[in-house]
Amino acid sequence: MRRFVLLGFLLGGPLAAQSPTVPVAPVPELPGAGRPVDIDAYRARRARLMERVGSGVIVVPAAHPRDLEAEVLQDNHFRQDDYFFYLTGIETPNAWLVLVASMDGEDEVTLYLPRRERGMEQWTGRGLGPGEDAVRLTGIQRVLPYAPDSIDRAAARGRRRSGGPLYTVMYVANRDNDRIRRWASSGQDVRNIVPLLDSLRTIKDEVGIAALRRAVAITAEGVTAGMSAAHPGMYEYQLEAVIEARFRHLGADRLGFPSIVGSGPNSTVLHYDMNRRQMQAGELVVVDVGAEYAQHTADVTRTLPVSGRFTERQRAIYDLVLATQEAVIEAVKPGVTIGELGSVARRYMADHSGNLCGEGDCGRYFVHGLSHWLGMRVHDVGDYRMVLEPGMVLTIEPGIYLPEENLGVRIEDDVLVTQTGAEILSAGAPRTTTEIERLMQLAEGSQPTGGN
Ligand code: GLY
Ligand code: MN
Ligand code: MN
Repeated sequence: MRRFVLLGFLLGGPLAAQSPTVPVAPVPELPGAGRPVDIDAYRARRARLMERVGSGVIVVPAAHPRDLEAEVLQDNHFRQDDYFFYLTGIETPNAWLVLVASMDGEDEVTLYLPRRERGMEQWTGRGLGPGEDAVRLTGIQRVLPYAPDSIDRAAARGRRRSGGPLYTVMYVANRDNDRIRRWASSGQDVRNIVPLLDSLRTIKDEVGIAALRRAVAITAEGVTAGMSAAHPGMYEYQLEAVIEARFRHLGADRLGFPSIVGSGPNSTVLHYDMNRRQMQAGELVVVDVGAEYAQHTADVTRTLPVSGRFTERQRAIYDLVLATQEAVIEAVKPGVTIGELGSVARRYMADHSGNLCGEGDCGRYFVHGLSHWLGMRVHDVGDYRMVLEPGMVLTIEPGIYLPEENLGVRIEDDVLVTQTGAEILSAGAPRTTTEIERLMQLAEGSQPTGGN
């Protein structure tokens, strides 16, 4: 598979776009809704949530467009609220979802959509309003027009019908917090649905895994393109531009987080994202990037030698980080915790550092956590005490940072927990020193030298 990707890239790009890892066949644009919604999968998510709640009404707002002038320059730069997207799959702003879970009656699902405004659509494009289109696209049979008091009324009605509490999404940045506070201060039994939704989001279903696979495949190709382009004299932002251009070319919606491209001294700064330095021969550059696709993000790190060849010292540190990562990935399986994986990493480094880091082992230069959950957010929701289960996705990202030597190495892969172990989703990005050097040297041979 990787040979196909590399070959595609070396031939100048277009073939890579047709590689089996990242199909770029156009996805039909649906007015106002985003991409086609897998109706059954989203119905199953809502049903799971209502089953877990038992009785109650669950009210989930969509995100609101940001305020033009005050927050952003262009008002159609919009990202859907993760919880709303998780339950509907649509990208319509200012919508609401109301679920009535009832122990002894039928569950009820209602989507409230703002009516379309022709004047506004001149600026932001066609929206999805209440009507037949919305029913067909979402698979939700009750789609009603949103009016300012419709949600209050739906919440009250849902409570009466279900005989249970009012659940809603309570988190700090929620722009609907005033309304939620009003509900709470009116004496209603208002509860937070976020912990339950987070626990559902932690175990990815097929739709979530498919989105992540695509985000990660795009990211692996972007990183691979970066490896082929990197050379002494290039600025970090130029390397960033090569990678991000590839992301967009392959259909990424946006970045999951600001790209980290840190060379030389910056390779030892964990979240350096200024990316302004000119890279010098003999240095390493840490590239930590993630494309977002269908509201899911990848998070992949590779460390490259700017000149295309690792020095002996760099290679030794790199190989220790890589072997540590492999020991951890070997240990990933259902039943293990992220804490236990961290201990595997620290123990491996302690046992295999030799005198690479002077007195003591290299673990004291591994200055961050090993893993985090990955999904709709780069540091995704989920309790870190949970044991791994099939369908969970996490990063494995050991590193060693030696500021006195301007030498930092991090290797980060995205791993899906399977029934028996782990699948490395990001395996498409070259990872060993041999693979990286081979790619960089092939690219050097096929590029004019010196050009930035
Ligand atoms: N890219 C941020 C992180 O690895 O956590
Ligand atoms: Mn990470
Ligand atoms: Mn990362």
